[in-house]
Amino acid sequence: MQKIVILDCGSQVTRLIGRRLRELNVFCEIVPFSSVPAPEPDIKGVIISGSPCSVRDDNAPRMALEGLLGKVPVLGICYGAQYLAWSLGGSVERSATREYGRAFLRTVAPSPLLEGVSAETQVWMSHGDVISQIPDGAITIASTEDVRNAAYQIPGLNAYAVQFHPEVYHTPEGGTILRNFAYGICGCTGDWTPDSFVDSTVASLRQTIGDDKVILGLSGGVDSTVAAVLLDRAIGSQLTCIFVDNGLLRKNEFRDVLESYRHMGLNVIGVDAGRDFLDALKGVTDPEAKRKAIGRVFVETFEKYARSVGGARWLAQGTIYPDVIESAGVGGAAAKIKSHHNVGGLPETLGLKIVEPLRMLFKDEVRRVGRALGISENLINRHPFPGPSLAIRIIGEVSEDKLAILREADDIFIRSLREYDCSGMNLQSAAEPGIPARTLYDAIWQAGVVLLPIRSIGVMGDERTYEHPVALRAVVSTDGMTADWFPLPYDFMAAVSNRIINNVRGVNRVLYDISSKPPATIEWE
Ligand code: XMP
Repeated sequence: MQKIVILDCGSQVTRLIGRRLRELNVFCEIVPFSSVPAPEPDIKGVIISGSPCSVRDDNAPRMALEGLLGKVPVLGICYGAQYLAWSLGGSVERSATREYGRAFLRTVAPSPLLEGVSAETQVWMSHGDVISQIPDGAITIASTEDVRNAAYQIPGLNAYAVQFHPEVYHTPEGGTILRNFAYGICGCTGDWTPDSFVDSTVASLRQTIGDDKVILGLSGGVDSTVAAVLLDRAIGSQLTCIFVDNGLLRKNEFRDVLESYRHMGLNVIGVDAGRDFLDALKGVTDPEAKRKAIGRVFVETFEKYARSVGGARWLAQGTIYPDVIESAGVGGAAAKIKSHHNVGGLPETLGLKIVEPLRMLFKDEVRRVGRALGISENLINRHPFPGPSLAIRIIGEVSEDKLAILREADDIFIRSLREYDCSGMNLQSAAEPGIPARTLYDAIWQAGVVLLPIRSIGVMGDERTYEHPVALRAVVSTDGMTADWFPLPYDFMAAVSNRIINNVRGVNRVLYDISSKPPATIEWE
């Protein structure tokens, strides 16, 4: 498959370059700056990203580009533009003032990179250094009032560079510039579509797996579901899925989701292991200890059932691109805030090889692929749900009683979100950006209820109550890394509060969590 490789030098917006290219139906891969690829027919172009460093720093990202330049088209963005200039004999100097914000671009020489871009188009600058001299053989193609070499090209090497960020929203014609690079200069044809992804992935899965048996852990989430359906299409009955009920799921979730998996024709074993999880959680109050206990029981349960599938050689996982980037620490090491994802890690002791058909996709691309596979909207548009499930939404020790209370409150909240028609509110779908949201559930990225361990006084009828408060949480986000609380309509909050307090025994107060991430996190534990 045609692709563009993005060398990540650590800019916060590198992932946006990937997004923009994928929106143009161009497949791309973000790799650490040190992984400069060798030229090969599939690699149509290479982009060097921005960076918080200055090329003049001793520890700045440095890349060996000799093998690439002149063979594959290259585009340097911000730091990438400076690095190209600096490494090819130009000069980069500290600018008198750090330039941050909008500027207006004036084309000074014709270039395929800037074709169709309007005169005086706005661009977004963010840099402390300037390219005071471009390399021999290079031509300045655009300037701004303050920056002479705002864009240049090196015709002999088929290399291009822009000092500004075409990938950000504040560069309105950035999409045209990236399109010019990908289509016009690199010759990409926009062959990355969900259908083409399904076809090529099914073919390569068949080739990789052959006649082997594969095991996959289903969670009810969109990633593992799409991975399972892709594998099912590729290898059919060679795939066995295991769906573990940890006893901490939402109301009716295990039953309903298992039913839809079977309906889709997946070969799935449903495992009721709730008792084991609850036993392991007895007396445990620390959030990390809860996660560890749940992870351990999950691995034990999974192993037991995986072994019962004789002769399996592969473990399939629904790992997606943000998981890959986060765990590889590309773009800067992320501090461990909570031990996340794929609870407990994978059961290495099983000695299975790993297959991850979605590892290059972003979440909304997984959803597009899911739709291309005919998976129902109900499964595709589900909010993310954490592996440790409701256990990390019950603050303190988990018990059956508390689970029962939380399940009811959560069910009322989620059902109410699904029922509230917001089509007149001009909101976008969280799962499918750009598409109008029909219900509040669609407009929200993730929602749930948290049960607090304190009690407060209330009065119901003539009786005094002394019960727990619950907190509602509803956020918008793109990848869970940052999030903002969602402004729920007042009439909605009033109705949900009434429904919960009147129907859920054990709750006499409803709160709304209005904290963003950071500094809070989405889950309370
Ligand atoms: P936080 O709470 O860190 O959550 O803001 C970000 C996203 O990750 C989910 N989450 C988890 N997912 N195992 C998971 O599989 C976990 O231990 C875990 N903790 C949080 C959370 O629901 C949100 O979508």
